[in-house]
Amino acid sequence: MFTPVIMAGGSGSRLWPLSRQSSPKQFLDLDGSGSSLLQQTLTRLNGLDHAAPVIVSNDSYRFLVAEQLRQADVTSLATVLEPCSRNTAPAIALAALSLLQQGGDTVMLVLASDHQFTRPHELHQAIMQGLPLAEQGKLVTFGITPTRAETGYGYIKTGASLSDSAFRIAEFAEKPDAATAQAFLEGGQHLWNSGMFMFRASIYLQELEQHDPEMLNHCKAALASGTQDPDFIRPDTELFSLCPDNSIDYAVMEKTDNACVVAMDAGWSDIGSWQSLWDVSERDQDNNVTLGDTYLHETRNSLVQAHHRHVATIGLDNHIVVETKDAVLVAQKDDSQKVKEVVQYLKANQ
Ligand code: GDD
Ligand code: MG
Repeated sequence: MFTPVIMAGGSGSRLWPLSRQSSPKQFLDLDGSGSSLLQQTLTRLNGLDHAAPVIVSNDSYRFLVAEQLRQADVTSLATVLEPCSRNTAPAIALAALSLLQQGGDTVMLVLASDHQFTRPHELHQAIMQGLPLAEQGKLVTFGITPTRAETGYGYIKTGASLSDSAFRIAEFAEKPDAATAQAFLEGGQHLWNSGMFMFRASIYLQELEQHDPEMLNHCKAALASGTQDPDFIRPDTELFSLCPDNSIDYAVMEKTDNACVVAMDAGWSDIGSWQSLWDVSERDQDNNVTLGDTYLHETRNSLVQAHHRHVATIGLDNHIVVETKDAVLVAQKDDSQKVKEVVQYLKANQ
């Protein structure tokens, strides 16, 4: 038995202009399936024996979270609302502290809310392989065989074998530079970190105490002075704002020597950018991915979304065109990561 902990507080800026600060990607139906990435994350675990999930999100998304849980017919054990974003390490600490407060040192299955899986059965098998390792006190990660020198992921060097597809972690390197990522890819000894984790609540907090005690103390203090009602747990705004900003990958995974990895082949992808959405979507005979009212003439290898108006393209190759009510993005597909820079510019200048 384990408790899913779903991190749903990111801003998804690389999927602008569809993903907005007010409604980031995890709340959007990006693949036209009728459910959002968050809802897919919740229902993907159906069939496994697990407790009600804990959602950790931002206070400004409380209505979105509540409405989407209701639509998906999921009742959360708790929804923690951060007053400001301090990245994933504090978010997971708040969930771990809340679970321990409720009395159990449960195994947490920490999930991102921006992933897709084409083979959920393989995911279930990997989770069931990770569970006994987490119960024994390990920090479990789930690894993917890399297919390109991606710099946006963490890389895991596998060490001694623990079972069929579980290994000790010899080294964890978060978001390496391009040359290092290329060397990892060519060396054949690294897996990508999928961004899912499994551990006991107490073990994560022990690790944080060892590697970033200041962060742990701020999280404890913010929860102790915060409020709690049947719907939401709200850490104190001022105290939580003092908490250092860091991800679990840098704060814990790069530092611990108590981690292992379960290799999985579950058709995993991180819908982090327009390029990755194109990668995982079904394409037409010209290798295009379209949504809405579009007409593509002599256009190939592109993603074109029309949300409010008719969009026609001529002669495009390897491009992104996303039309929304108040903003339009036109970009080279290979520049998908740079959308973040545009959002930063707009934030600073609007
Ligand atoms: N509650 C909360 N609060 N959630 C957050 C916050 C926060 O401050 N920041 C991010 N999240 C959520 C996001 O919504 C997402 O679901 C998840 O945490 C991961 O955050 P990302 O910002 O998407 O991380 P990343 O993609 O750069 O890197 C992580 O995932 C990669 C694979 O997708 C790392 O774990 C990498 O090592 C990994 O390879
Ligand atoms: Mg991500």
